[in-house]
Amino acid sequence: MVNVEVFYMSDHLPDKISRRAFLGSSAKLAVGIAGLLAGTTGLFVYGAHKHRGLGSGARPGHIVELGELEWLRSLNTVKRMNYEAVYEDAWNSKPVKGFVFVTTEADGSVLIMSPACTHLGCTIAPSTDVGFHEAKDGQLYFQCPCHGAQFDHRGHSINLGLNRLDLYEPIIEGSTVYFDMMKPIRQTEA
Ligand code: FES
Repeated sequence: MVNVEVFYMSDHLPDKISRRAFLGSSAKLAVGIAGLLAGTTGLFVYGAHKHRGLGSGARPGHIVELGELEWLRSLNTVKRMNYEAVYEDAWNSKPVKGFVFVTTEADGSVLIMSPACTHLGCTIAPSTDVGFHEAKDGQLYFQCPCHGAQFDHRGHSINLGLNRLDLYEPIIEGSTVYFDMMKPIRQTEA
């Protein structure tokens, strides 16, 4: 049986940084990602165990600290992990709050799922939260309140043939896992 536990990352909020530091770090991150993509597409595969650091300097506010790698790999359930971050683009910088669902794949890689339904973007909820009778079978799935889409606990569409939930690439720095809240990765299969 898979449950969802709520975990708050308030102890791990992103550091406040200056715009100059943000731009510098973002540029390094962009160059790093471009380099990785140019070198091999394999490194960009979701769940890669390769080390991909954040580089030196302050961490951009949109890079969210998820937790210790070993702890995340030991998850045998799905955790809703709330976060606070800083949305930044060329014109705006503003604090945002959000959450992701986190669990592990069979091979031990960390799975970070967006809660946005891949139909029209409503926020999904665990079946155990919304109280649908199907949850009594002991299997967790996610339910969309808008048009009834369901996704299993790894984000695969169950009933409407939609794309899998968007995933975030785990970024591993030392023994800690981060993700970029501004870069959900669209999945093209159910
Ligand atoms: S937005 Fe989720 S089913 Fe339509």
